[in-house]
Amino acid sequence: MIERVTEIQKQAEAEIAAASSSAALEELRVQYLGRKAELPQLLRDVAQLPPEQRGEAGRTANQARQTLEVMIETAAARFEADELSAALADDNVDITLPGSPAESCGHHHLLTATRREIEDVFCGLGYSVVEGPEVETVHYNFDALNHDPAHPARARSDTFYIEGGGEGSEQTLLRTHTSPMQIRIMEQTPPPIALIVPGRVFRRDSDATHTPQFHQIEGLLVDEGVTLADLKGTLLAFARAIFGADRELRLRPHFFPFTEPSVEVDVSCFMCEKGATSGGERCSLCKGTGWLEVLGSGMVDPNVFAAVSEHGYDPDTHQGFAFGLGIERIAMLKHGVPDLRFFYENDLRFLRQFG
Ligand code: PHE
Repeated sequence: MIERVTEIQKQAEAEIAAASSSAALEELRVQYLGRKAELPQLLRDVAQLPPEQRGEAGRTANQARQTLEVMIETAAARFEADELSAALADDNVDITLPGSPAESCGHHHLLTATRREIEDVFCGLGYSVVEGPEVETVHYNFDALNHDPAHPARARSDTFYIEGGGEGSEQTLLRTHTSPMQIRIMEQTPPPIALIVPGRVFRRDSDATHTPQFHQIEGLLVDEGVTLADLKGTLLAFARAIFGADRELRLRPHFFPFTEPSVEVDVSCFMCEKGATSGGERCSLCKGTGWLEVLGSGMVDPNVFAAVSEHGYDPDTHQGFAFGLGIERIAMLKHGVPDLRFFYENDLRFLRQFG
């Protein structure tokens, strides 16, 4: 028995020395010292030996067990320390990082994103971006822009006038379009100029496609030798940049007091095919026409140049074009938004679709 104990001890010692993890040591402990292992069994068998052999055999087996226990414990303690430092090194927490999970810091509102996208297109074409006042005067909003004294937009039913805000052409109002900035820009900057003016405008109007407040981008380019072809090329470049090569553009003759000739520009409807839905019904968005009006434009009327002639604009030598587009309408077309009011309801289920 003593020889068998010595054999087991040698083998166990070799294996313990070669073990490479605390899990491996635990396996060896079960294998050599567990209830069903041979060494403990031999210890139990000592009782059956002839009395003169019991003393030495018992001591040897006991000692072997103790030696192996100590060896396993020592090795295990070392592994545990190593494994703990490895886990700690691995688990390095950077306390300068944001909390977990990181909170999204949000994104631009679809109208802001669309405004910036349009600004990018025109900046790429060499335009500058300027802003102007939302509270205007009758002079800048209507008179200097060649509006007839009886023009319907001047009516109190269409325009928000500010109570007690001056008289006649100095009467203040909430601008109904960004066009007043055409005048302000020309008063301050001699030609040639190429600018866009993004901003809020106000009208007494409220339904699925009209809200009392909405956003426009005005465009104005003035130089010598500018023609309607330049206007058309510019708007084509814009339409393609925003809506992609598939979109069609249509120019229709129109009237604006401050442009001559004037055109309305339409983009093909995104909801249907030439005015009919896939089910063959009349498209409700474009009312079956296949076209959606996106902007008004035209060649700057000589009467407008006359209003700023003292600032270097001569109706005989200068030509220019102007356009005014609705940011909401562009965003609706581009993203298939069916109702203008979604933009202002601040329902995150709507807004988050455009992050
Ligand atoms: N100001 C016009 C509107 O709001 C749009 C426009 C701008 C038309 C510039 C022609 C030139 O309807």
